[in-house]
Amino acid sequence: MKRLGIIGDPVAHSLSPIFQNAALEAAGIDAHYEAWHTPRADLPARVGSLRDGDVLGANVTIPHKGAVIPLLDGLDPRAALVGAVNTVVQRDGKLTGYNTDGAGFVEALRREAGFEPAGKRVLLLGAGGAARGITFALGQAEASAVHIWNRTPARAERLAEDVHAAGMPAEAVPEASPAGYACIVNCTSVGMEGTGTESESPINLAQAEPGTLAVDIVYRPADTAFLHAAQEAGLPSLGGLPMLIYQGALAFELWTGAPAPVDVMFRAAREALARPAPP
Ligand code: ATR
Repeated sequence: MKRLGIIGDPVAHSLSPIFQNAALEAAGIDAHYEAWHTPRADLPARVGSLRDGDVLGANVTIPHKGAVIPLLDGLDPRAALVGAVNTVVQRDGKLTGYNTDGAGFVEALRREAGFEPAGKRVLLLGAGGAARGITFALGQAEASAVHIWNRTPARAERLAEDVHAAGMPAEAVPEASPAGYACIVNCTSVGMEGTGTESESPINLAQAEPGTLAVDIVYRPADTAFLHAAQEAGLPSLGGLPMLIYQGALAFELWTGAPAPVDVMFRAAREALARPAPP
């Protein structure tokens, strides 16, 4: 049996083992996906262990998406551009890093919300790691404008500069004003379970134009205050689960070469989310 896993700290609450194992089973692939809890000091040894012949690859999550890069043998251009790796593929003892987060986000927009980013104006709330991958992916998908608002403006300015330097549109904005966008994305942790901000939305959506798509990348809880505000304002909306599933589906295809059974992955993840969160 081949092995896969997620490298991070913490990883105990990750949904990836649940939906990746469901996908492997449905596709008839003799492999098992594990949670590989890895404190910073153990990262080099953990990455080294991926060269074993029975390992197909791994996912990488907080806090290792950047730190893993110098430990790999090669980097996909998209991962190099973003400066973060969420997927590692092992072939013949060589490790290659990929980033499927941004592409997973765009795939989720297209497949689950029927939204094509090309030529559209998008407002991103937040400038952390998640916002970074999404900003680059929206640029590559040819969004006409990507405005970034962040609580700490210097981080938004830095992100906009990096994306601009790569020849794509991005601009830091001082206020989160919802008018004039085809899509507004919450890339902050506001609304996430366990943060104390569960009842908050990072923006007032009442002034958004009709038809503006509101997207949250938070998936626990499924109905964040931001999504609730979108529904109150009559706006179409998309929760965080599709992005998680599609980044996993793209990783699955890189490891196995087989098409990902996306419906199976959604079902397994939704069942797990319906159960009470582990302590
Ligand atoms: P991730 O990699 O998941 O994006 P992160 O790098 O910690 O995580 O980024 C979290 C994002 O949520 C940041 O944009 C952060 O804003 P700051 O850069 O100002 O810290 C944002 N965030 C967290 N709590 C927030 C709050 N209460 N109000 C507004 N923004 C918040």
